[in-house]
Amino acid sequence: MKIEIYPTAAAAEQAVVSKILAQVAQNPQSVLGLATGGTMEAVYGGLISAHERTGTSFAGCASFNLDEYLDLSANDPNSYRSYMESKFFDHVDLPRDRCYLPDVGPDPEASAARYENLIREVGPVDLQLLGIGGNGHIGFNEPLTPFSTTTHVTDLSPKTIEANARYFVHKNEVPRRAITMGIATILSARSVVLLATGRQKASAILAAIKGPKTERCPASALQGHESVTFVLDSLAGSALEDVSLYAIS
Ligand code: GLP
Repeated sequence: MKIEIYPTAAAAEQAVVSKILAQVAQNPQSVLGLATGGTMEAVYGGLISAHERTGTSFAGCASFNLDEYLDLSANDPNSYRSYMESKFFDHVDLPRDRCYLPDVGPDPEASAARYENLIREVGPVDLQLLGIGGNGHIGFNEPLTPFSTTTHVTDLSPKTIEANARYFVHKNEVPRRAITMGIATILSARSVVLLATGRQKASAILAAIKGPKTERCPASALQGHESVTFVLDSLAGSALEDVSLYAIS
């Protein structure tokens, strides 16, 4: 496990952009695992600017998003498909037919199984980008999700509904269910980069990195991955005792 702590959120975000660009430079046919959430917005901004300014091409790549809300239409502005289109896909040359998100058809269980099979067929994912919930969730794998799960339908925890309510007009509009890659799916990626910024992530980061490997903190499953990097700003890393060991100036 590698831990990198940057003085600011902007520096941490830029470090993640550089890792993704390095992956695409090293293998232009990379399969990227993508994440949503406020934390990732600057990462997509950085990738778009690399595409526009230095001609970085994603034309040979494919992408798999971690998760998608259920009970919203795909073109609802709060769907993760809409997020990805407006914040990334519309601005780069990643072929649209190779930008995969779980589909929200009439049979979510079947969609989840199809998505898992597609990841196995097109993948493995070369670099999986992850954020983290304040309760330690990754994707929508909430606390107590077994580490052996593959892509599945899940209920959002009350804490996650609360945290994600800021994107909706009313809290009661936040979907209660989602399809998410499972923890085993996430761990099948060749490498994982988790980005966390802000003090509100500090206790989840502490539990993920230093706590026991337990289903109470889904992100602690990453302790068992052979190539995982936690990229943090100083606030997200502030609960770790030996911060100076990982500080990057
Ligand atoms: C959502 C997503 C996660 C994301 C998390 C944190 O619930 N399903 O993939 O990591 O929230 O989001 P934010 O970056 O907005 O704090």
